[in-house]
Amino acid sequence: MTILVTGGAGFIGSNFIFHMLAKYPDYRIVCLDKLTYAGNLSTLASVMDNPSFRFVKLDICDRQGVYRLFEEEHPNMVVNFAAESHVDRSIENPEVFLQTNILGTQVLMDACRKYGIDRFHQVSTDEVYGDLPLDQPDLFFTEDTPIHTSSPYSASKAGADLLVLAYHRTFGLPVTISRCSNNYGPYQFPEKLIPLMIANALNDKPLPVYGQGLNVRDWLYVEDHCIAIDLILHRGRVGQVYNIGGHNEMRNIDIVKIICAALGKSESLITHVTDRKGHDMRYAIDPAKIHNQLGWLPETKFADGIRKTIRWYLDNREWWEEIISGEYRNYYERMYGGR
Ligand code: NAD
Ligand code: DAU
Repeated sequence: MTILVTGGAGFIGSNFIFHMLAKYPDYRIVCLDKLTYAGNLSTLASVMDNPSFRFVKLDICDRQGVYRLFEEEHPNMVVNFAAESHVDRSIENPEVFLQTNILGTQVLMDACRKYGIDRFHQVSTDEVYGDLPLDQPDLFFTEDTPIHTSSPYSASKAGADLLVLAYHRTFGLPVTISRCSNNYGPYQFPEKLIPLMIANALNDKPLPVYGQGLNVRDWLYVEDHCIAIDLILHRGRVGQVYNIGGHNEMRNIDIVKIICAALGKSESLITHVTDRKGHDMRYAIDPAKIHNQLGWLPETKFADGIRKTIRWYLDNREWWEEIISGEYRNYYERMYGGR
């Protein structure tokens, strides 16, 4: 069994590679990654010498390169994590989101059609459903909730999802799609809420909360997402969409306060800044389908997951300090400088 994992030098893809190599020692895992600002080869250092693993630096939009890789490796499955993933960056510059997230997905699926594949799995997001109101806590996203996107990022992910389903119906490509809620855990790039707040708090820098911080996200420990994708690959039904989420809704402001308390930092570091444009209010997943059909349930409670995550950022300072001292500094200045 050879699995091609795209975007495996990023946050969730790398955690997925660790999970699969540990659980299936007889599988071959080939990781394809362009190593954009969000991809970090040092993240994969612990598996680089594993004979079951191969890393290839490649853009999923590079059709010839992708075809060459398929000719070399003949993967049985593709799991597509590769994407531009940050909403704020998509507001600043949408174009690369459309290129990678939609056209790159098309290139991968064309390769699957040309060389044959047992499964193409698209890692999508709950953001394709838009948002829910705060005053109707009984509303959740199901797989039948209409696509209704807010940001260029979510629109590009929704575009890819529609294309994936179209390739299934039109060409019979054996696809599955998962739509997960917000992940947290080791190796998340410190532009996202939780690692950004941990890094800033440790450096006694302001903690920039957008607006009042009342927006709600449904947080899932990254390992639980990886377990769910593993289940879908092995037992999921072709042509199906699976929502993934752990009924763990929290307001941003409460997350930031938890981080302050865990690190012994004063809440006076919290600074309310200009809100994100088009900011989604609430995400909440109904995971009944993946639970009923595949038996999936999250294993890590938020209290344990956030403790492990904070511990990881404390123990791996050089990993994120290198990031925030490099090109990312310019992004931070552009994004938060005059906010
Ligand atoms: P990330 O930004 O940490 O990693 C993305 C990876 O993709 C990086 O290694 C980057 O180098 C690579 N990449 C980007 N463009 C590429 C290209 N053109 N060709 C090859 N590689 C390219 O993202 P993440 O948080 O790990 O998210 C992974 C996937 O999961 C994304 O598709 C995202 O939409 C989805 N998702 C993320 C979350 C979350 O909370 N982070 C939740 C649900 C779904
Ligand atoms: O729901 C799944 C999505 O979760 C994924 O598809 C995306 O790839 C992933 O980035 C994430 O999107 P969000 O926009 O929800 O995540 P982010 O960490 O950027 O922001 C979480 C919340 O925190 C959001 O309401 C905005 C707010 N926020 C974020 C940052 C970076 C702040 O208040 N301050 C900040 O500095």
